[in-house]
Order: sequence, then C-alpha cells, then structure tokens
Amino acid sequence: MLYRIKQFFRGVFAKVTPEEQVFLKAYLTKGEALLFRRLRVGEQRHSLNIAYDCLKEAPKNRILIKAALLHDVGKINSNLTLVHKALVVVITKLPIPKRMLPKFLQKALYYKQQHPALGAELLNNVGTEASVVFLTRHHHRDFSTNPIPLKAYPKLGEGFNENSLGDLLKTLELLQKIDEKN
Ligand SMILES: [Fe+2]
Ligand SMILES: [Fe+2]
Repeated sequence: MLYRIKQFFRGVFAKVTPEEQVFLKAYLTKGEALLFRRLRVGEQRHSLNIAYDCLKEAPKNRILIKAALLHDVGKINSNLTLVHKALVVVITKLPIPKRMLPKFLQKALYYKQQHPALGAELLNNVGTEASVVFLTRHHHRDFSTNPIPLKAYPKLGEGFNENSLGDLLKTLELLQKIDEKN
C-alpha cells in the first residue's frame, strides 16, 4: 500500500529534464522518441527510472535499456491516469463482470491488460528491432505458468541464434523484476 502511495506522488510531481532528452536520443530512433513523447509524463518518468535501474544492473545490455524506455508505449491514448489506475487495481479484486463497469473503467482495464500487445504493434510500425518488440510484448507475462511458445520468439537470423534466445529470456526476467519495483 505504501508503495502505491509513493508511486502516486511520484506520478503527480513527475518531470523529464533536458539532460534526459539527450539520454533518450542516445537510445531511441526518431520514430521511437515520438512514441515516447506521446506517453503521459508520469509514464515517461516511470520508463526513465526503469532505464536507469537497468543501466546499473546491466550497463552493456542496450536492448534492455531500450525496452525499459519503450515497454509501456502501448499506454498511449489510454485513460490510465493515476486515479484510474488505482481504481483498476481495486476493481480487478472484486467479482464484478466487466460489462457492468462504467465505460471509462472498461477502457482503463482494456489498456491495463492489452498495453503490451498494443505497444509491440506500435513499435513494429516504426521498425524497432524484433528483440525490443518481443520484450515489450511479454513484459507482464508470467512465464512460469504461461510459457512463451517457440514460434513467438524473434526469428533466428534476425540478429539471433539459439544462444541469444536464452539471453533474451534472461533480459526479459530482469526487465520484469525492475519494472515491478518501480
Ligand atoms: Fe506495463
Ligand atoms: Fe512498466
């Protein structure tokens, strides 16, 4: 609970500094940077914080840092404001059928559940590398109970071989761990 309150206030006072714009430029293409800027400032802040933590844990893993910056771009056009996010957390714990919820909550719930897939599509459209698209698509997947089918991995040959698929899974685990802490 304390974590949620902290997260709320961090969101209210969020900003992105000019130095951070330089940081973003070092990792993102023009198309990706445009997507990043369309996120709410609170989401931009969240993504930057994750990227810094990733940088500390794995400074050479460029794919991880890039995915940290882009993993939530599927929240563009969502109504996942701080208040709506808090409401979604509450309603998912109550036994209310989705269709009984007011429209704005149905929309918030949709983005909460679908933003990984929506983000992966947005990134595909701007030509982001397959590994970053993959990390975005699966960043909320619990692969201990819901394993990723082999055909869902980036195709071998697109900068990948059998060994690097293992690395990609490790990168996904690290991204999930750091995302949960932020
Ligand atoms: Fe997310
Ligand atoms: Fe996130």
